[in-house]
Amino acid sequence: MTFTIERTANPTDAATLARILENPGFGKVFTDHMVTIRWTEGQGWHDAKVTARVPFALDPAAAVLHYAQEIFEGMKAYRAADGGVTLFRPDANAKRFRDSGSRMAMPLIPEELFLEAVEQLVRIDQAWIPGGEGGSLYIRPFMFANEAFLGVRPASEYVFCVIACPVGAYFKGGAKAITIWAPENYTRAAPGGTGAAKCGGNYAASLIAQLEASKHGCDQVVFLDAAEHRWIEELGGMNVFFVRDDGSLLTPPLSGTILPGITRDSIIQLARSLGHTVVEQPYSLAQWKEDAATGRVREAFACGTAAVLAPIGTVRTAEGDFVIGNGEGGSTTASLRERLVGMQRGTQAPLVDGWIRRVI
Ligand code: PLP
Ligand code: COI
Repeated sequence: MTFTIERTANPTDAATLARILENPGFGKVFTDHMVTIRWTEGQGWHDAKVTARVPFALDPAAAVLHYAQEIFEGMKAYRAADGGVTLFRPDANAKRFRDSGSRMAMPLIPEELFLEAVEQLVRIDQAWIPGGEGGSLYIRPFMFANEAFLGVRPASEYVFCVIACPVGAYFKGGAKAITIWAPENYTRAAPGGTGAAKCGGNYAASLIAQLEASKHGCDQVVFLDAAEHRWIEELGGMNVFFVRDDGSLLTPPLSGTILPGITRDSIIQLARSLGHTVVEQPYSLAQWKEDAATGRVREAFACGTAAVLAPIGTVRTAEGDFVIGNGEGGSTTASLRERLVGMQRGTQAPLVDGWIRRVI
């Protein structure tokens, strides 16, 4: 498909951009352009465009505003040491986007078209990629139903769009250990539901628990399973790993209710390559508390594109806190993080050929 390219008439000036890139925060400032591709029943994908980033004109009856038929992805572009630009495993995001689309009864965008759209945006807005340590361009491909129709059925028209924002650390404390909240009354996803899809509705449903977490001074929520409210699933926007005293790693299995994280999969492969045993098995909050007390679990960390790898220092529940290790993270988390970041930023060789895709 050919993309029409119309550069913005009002590009951000160099001085403003330099000021933004010094301290971009997370998800607050957006680049000058966006990519859109439309899908219409009977016609399929069409009208691929790179344009200035502008608001959408949406009919008030657009299906997404009523029934939340929406999916998204999260990925990052990195500035390589030689000035080039790379993506980390973008094919995995393209595939997961299709899996999410399937679950939400949406049209499936071909992987190559998804990748081309992402690369078009990265190329046109490459000046927005922070060069400093820890900075990257966070890319947000998403798709929503824009047919004006209030009957409850899959829409017949969709918009696929890619926007991007320069980002630094996701958590305000940077690489410091985070505190997580285990809510008593909220779950994120149930068997048969949409937990494994990256759809906006999952995040809407998680916000009240995140608010509760903030009120308790916590950075994130750790969700337990919906059926027994016992088994650890994942955090609001990250997967979770536990490091045991024998050096082995444990992470909850992909049961259908958690997001199959690309960072999670990369860490599993990376840890195994470094000689760690990694098991994917159910693990309860009660067991975690006991293992933290006895020292059986020495470290725990959250992982995801936005968060990278964040050590978990303290778990807060209605009954009180428990601390993991010394409360500040540990050496296994630090070395996995260093190796992952090294690969992503091109200072270390990728574990698997093909994990790094060069855009520029
Ligand atoms: N779990 C949830 C709920 C997420 O939103 C994310 C972030 O994308 C992850 C896990 C981690 O996934 P990934 O490593 O692919 O970014
Ligand atoms: C990501 O890591 O890409 C996510 O979508 C998670 C969100 C908390 C920003």
